[in-house]
Parts: sequence; structure tokens; C-alpha cells
Amino acid sequence: MQTVPFTYRIPASGETPAGYDRHLTRRLSSLRGFFQDGAAFEKEISLGDTLVYEVYEINRPENSGELQTGLSIVHPGLIGDEYYMTKGHFHAELQTAEIYHCLQGEGVMVMENMDGEWAVEELRPGVVLYILPGWAHRSVNTGHDEDLITYFAYPGHAGHDYATIETQGFRKIMLERDGRPCIVDNPRWVAPGSR
Ligand code: F6R
Ligand code: ZN
Repeated sequence: MQTVPFTYRIPASGETPAGYDRHLTRRLSSLRGFFQDGAAFEKEISLGDTLVYEVYEINRPENSGELQTGLSIVHPGLIGDEYYMTKGHFHAELQTAEIYHCLQGEGVMVMENMDGEWAVEELRPGVVLYILPGWAHRSVNTGHDEDLITYFAYPGHAGHDYATIETQGFRKIMLERDGRPCIVDNPRWVAPGSR
């Protein structure tokens, strides 16, 4: 890990990210149960364990004086009529914010907090999204042939709580209707406490 100030690069369009410490890949097999249409999911995965999204991270200590930063790349695709998306999470240290800067592509961030509020913000190149502390977030690629690429930064000690979203889902999901992205109530959403 670096012990003096350092630089790294946001890749130019089409360039493979270089100089990052970690490269995480999320394939369909790691997303079983996340999409609405189970039959469409099984059909798709029978054709191959497609790469849905990737994360490139800079490795920093997990303390509040540090920042965790990197790139998130969601590939284009659909399972049934639901767009490729990240798992989504709350931060384990709930009261921590996050910044996303959209670099490429078309998408949205689906968000909600523990008080029942939700929000969906469009991500387009140049847009900076400030996610308030306490809001779960999932990026969704609503484009048809381009990667959704974002640069993110969040407090070093935030950590991740995936279990809450894995159990209850997000209140809203993004489906394609007449070729366009639509915000739809999640029919499988489970109210906290009713499990
Ligand atoms: C970190 C963060 C992003 C996501 C990435 C993948 O707090 O929000 O780096 O981790 O977009 O999404 P998840 O973590 O939901 O699989
Ligand atoms: Zn996050």
C-alpha cells in the first residue's frame, strides 16, 4: 500500500483500467435471486455465466480518515425485461455517504433509506451523484450497448451490508417497457420486520 501521495488514472474510453489494486467480477451465478424473472435468469445462465459488472478498487486502510475509491462498470444486458444491475447495499457503518461520478453510459442509481423513502437518479457522463448517509444504492445500466462506468469515493470505514438488500430487495426496480426504462414497484419487496 502506498505510503506517500499517489496518482492513478481514470481510463480513456475503451481502455482497460490499469494501476488499480483489486479487480472484482460479478457474473450471473453470483446474482441468482436478484432478478425478478427466475425462468429468464435460468435460461440466460444456461447459455453462459455472463459477466454483469466489475469493480476496480484502490486498496486503502478501512479507517475514517481514508477514502475508498475506484471504478464500477456495469455491462449492458437484460434478464427478461430487467436491466443488468449491481447487487446493491447499505454501508455497514450506515451513516456514511458516497459520491459517484458518471464517466460513460446511461443508467440510474436506485436508492432507499430505512425510513421508507426512495429515489432514482439518472446517471449520464458528467453527472455527480451525492448519496446521503443511510441510503442503500444500486447502479443499473439502462443502455443497450454501452458500459455504465462510474467513479466512486466513500469513507474508509464504511464497509458493506449486502444482507439487508439480499433479504428484502429494493422497493423499486428498473424494467424496460416499450424500449424505455421504467421505475416499477418491486412485487417481491419484503417489508423490514415482516420476514
Ligand atoms: C461501494 C460502492 C461501489 C459498489 C460497486 C458494486 O460502497 O457503492 O463501489 O460496491 O458499484 O456494487 P455492489 O457493491 O452493490 O455489488
Ligand atoms: Zn456503496
